[in-house]
Amino acid sequence: MKRVVIEGSQWGDEGKGKITDYFSGKADVVVRFQGGNNAGHTIVFDGKKFAVRLLPSGIFHKGVVCVLASGMVISPSGFFEEVDALKKAGIDVSRIKISDRASVLLDYHKLLDGANERALSGNKIGTTGRGIGPCYTDKASRIGLRMCDLLDAKTLRKCLERTLQFKNRELKSYGLEPVDFDTMYKECLKYGKKLKPYITDTSVFLQNEIKKGSKILFEGAQGAMLCLTHGTYPYVTCSSPMSVSVPLSCGIPPRSIDYVLGIAKAYTTRVGEGPFPTELFGAFADELRERGHEYGTVTKRPRRIGWLDINILNHCARISGVDGWALTLLDVLTGVDKINICVGYNYKGKTVTTIPATLEEYQAYKPIYITMDGWKKDISNVKSFEELPKNAQKYLKKIEKLTNVPIALFSVGPDREQTVILHDPFED
Ligand code: GDP
Ligand code: IMO
Ligand code: MG
Repeated sequence: MKRVVIEGSQWGDEGKGKITDYFSGKADVVVRFQGGNNAGHTIVFDGKKFAVRLLPSGIFHKGVVCVLASGMVISPSGFFEEVDALKKAGIDVSRIKISDRASVLLDYHKLLDGANERALSGNKIGTTGRGIGPCYTDKASRIGLRMCDLLDAKTLRKCLERTLQFKNRELKSYGLEPVDFDTMYKECLKYGKKLKPYITDTSVFLQNEIKKGSKILFEGAQGAMLCLTHGTYPYVTCSSPMSVSVPLSCGIPPRSIDYVLGIAKAYTTRVGEGPFPTELFGAFADELRERGHEYGTVTKRPRRIGWLDINILNHCARISGVDGWALTLLDVLTGVDKINICVGYNYKGKTVTTIPATLEEYQAYKPIYITMDGWKKDISNVKSFEELPKNAQKYLKKIEKLTNVPIALFSVGPDREQTVILHDPFED
């Protein structure tokens, strides 16, 4: 297997950063293909903790080329914030490549994100406030700026005039200060100069790497249930984090994907608003939140907590073609006496196992659980499946059976070393 997709299979924060970092040791190239700095991917090794937002989690491995592909929305200021911090930590950033077709996210996108949320009031999405939705909206409206537009003064003037004509009208309608053209033009020119060494046609680069037989990891941000098309719309992000989006977002043929690794927590979390059938409240939810340190990497918001939902994993697997699971944060369930797994929903007296299109219907779904016995022994140092307590083994086996997808690996702590591989996607 040469080209592996790392895909969040729930509502984000499944541990994609950790797993991407783990496999980056074997990869030649690591690609972020969608989203922007709404993502927060945590990586822990040698007693150090890092969080990346825009940059691929492969950046901590020497020599790995890190690509920010065409499907991304990239804030130049956010990019340099991360790059400067990495430089300070002694990490070589010359290996970064940014697609000339990636969208440029600017401060007014963040202002509009906030204004949209305020306008939605009681129906707000609970976005990360990073301007992701407004930036993708500009792309779809054909008025957005792309990285290539920053590289030529004449082109930039034309593109910025076009976009600000609409954006200033929108800002004014919210009672916000319009953007001053000259100030923004100068700022963008400066960004263009600084970004130039990184900008290239990443589709051509990736296709050459594919021809050479390089090992490539595609690191999704967010998760399947936040997919703009297949998630819990409208409580979603504005891109598709699913494997099916990789070819389009990177400019490579669909047949170039060899393996899809679905990353799933041993339970479920969600940040922001929207339906969550297996959500837990009260002291037990608080306990799991503290044990799993379930607070947003980007916004520090407490994450909502719930039981594992097999219907969600199956929804993701069906659409994305998941070949194997990476089950993360298994250690957080240690000490839980009885563990529930949601295997279906009750809706108007009928059992349903698929995710409905409408929010109203999904909100009315009541989870149907099976209950499994938990385990007490600390598992944070286990190195093999056999070392797991019998009940933890049974939990993993049950997930495999209910999803009909094998568990490729499981994770028992945040550190790179706390990873147990059962089938290696790159070796199979
Ligand atoms: P991502 O957005 O999918 O990369 O996930 P985040 O980094 O936002 O959130 C996952 C959190 O869980 C981070 O704090 C990780 O360090 C941590 N983590 C990852 N895997 C494990 C694990 O197996 N056990 C524990 N206890 N923490 C983990
Ligand atoms: P990673 O990559 C968890 C959620 C937000 C909100 C919705 C829309 O770390 O898993 P947006 O700012 O994208 O318009 O917000 O999506 N969201 C995430 N939740 N993890 C993420 O990224 C997320 N990125 C966005 O909380 O509900
Ligand atoms: Mg995260």
